[in-house]
Amino acid sequence: MSLEDTLRTLREEASREITAAANLEEIEKVRLSYLGKKGSLTKALKGMKDLPPEERPVIGSLANEIRDEITGKLEDARAQLELQKMNEQLESEVIDVTLPGRKVRKGASHVLTQIREELEDLFIGMGYQVIEGPEMEEDNYNFERMNLPKNHPARDMQDTFYITEDTLLRTHTSPVQARTMDVHDFSKGPLKMISPGKVYRRDDDDATHSHQFQQIEGLVVDKNITMADLKGTLQIFAKKMFGEDREIRLRPSFFPFTEPSVEVDVSCFKCGGQGCNVCKQTGWIEILGAGVVHPNVLEMSGVDSDVYSGFAFGLGLERIAMLKYGVDDIRHFYQNDQRFLEQFKVRR
Ligand code: DAH
Repeated sequence: MSLEDTLRTLREEASREITAAANLEEIEKVRLSYLGKKGSLTKALKGMKDLPPEERPVIGSLANEIRDEITGKLEDARAQLELQKMNEQLESEVIDVTLPGRKVRKGASHVLTQIREELEDLFIGMGYQVIEGPEMEEDNYNFERMNLPKNHPARDMQDTFYITEDTLLRTHTSPVQARTMDVHDFSKGPLKMISPGKVYRRDDDDATHSHQFQQIEGLVVDKNITMADLKGTLQIFAKKMFGEDREIRLRPSFFPFTEPSVEVDVSCFKCGGQGCNVCKQTGWIEILGAGVVHPNVLEMSGVDSDVYSGFAFGLGLERIAMLKYGVDDIRHFYQNDQRFLEQFKVRR
């Protein structure tokens, strides 16, 4: 077969094979079989050198024409197949935007967290700092520095989880008082702080006891702080927590770290003071312990008790929550029963 015939045959075969190619891989195969290094068209062109010189220009231009034609057809077919492939993909990945979305279940803060944050906001608004202390505490801070020397009978009031002889899980947030006074620079102004956090007691869990619960400690130290400042502050707290009509009253009590010490009651928010089952017919509900900071506690932090005085208070978060929402068992707060928790879900 003459070279010219070979070229014309290749042109027709190539054209047919390109049309028949069903995908990009096949197109690539066709390209290689004609235009690749060992392709049939490439081979045929090598035969040019054997032609008599006068035939070369004619056959040469025919060869170029055929190569350009095949190249062009391959490109067209490739573009066509790429478009087809993209369309198929778009079709298979189609999204129905009218379908309803999957429901995302949102978390919410725990009722105790809500109350803690509410109280933090209240006290921050009155110029207090929020300061946290360690849950694993030194015996020294938990007891000695709170005016409870070793063998002091009042240590029995709190059954303690000891870790070593000198370290324990704190039984109250009061040690943060000493830690804060230790580092406060009184030349720069008064100390006003609250300290929320977990505390631990070796109690058997029941409706009113938990081996782990939360407290908020409060401490104000400055010149001329008196019981009147304490009472005014707690009045604001009680109204905020239990309603604007609430009153408080102070009853004498004992804590080693305060002198005088008081137990603070709030007028019953259910009956308003008439007497009911919530206040056990007394009209009053005990909400926290407080007092004027004992001079020993100030002095042990290097604070001159002739110049400075302070008040302190400590409250149990669970107790406040139980009173506020009528919860009758402290264990509800820790059992993570959705039916209980969802009652306090607030949408923000
Ligand atoms: N720390 C006491 C307790 O856990 C509570 C308390 C009472 C704290 C009187 C105080 C206070 O700061 O003044 O039982």
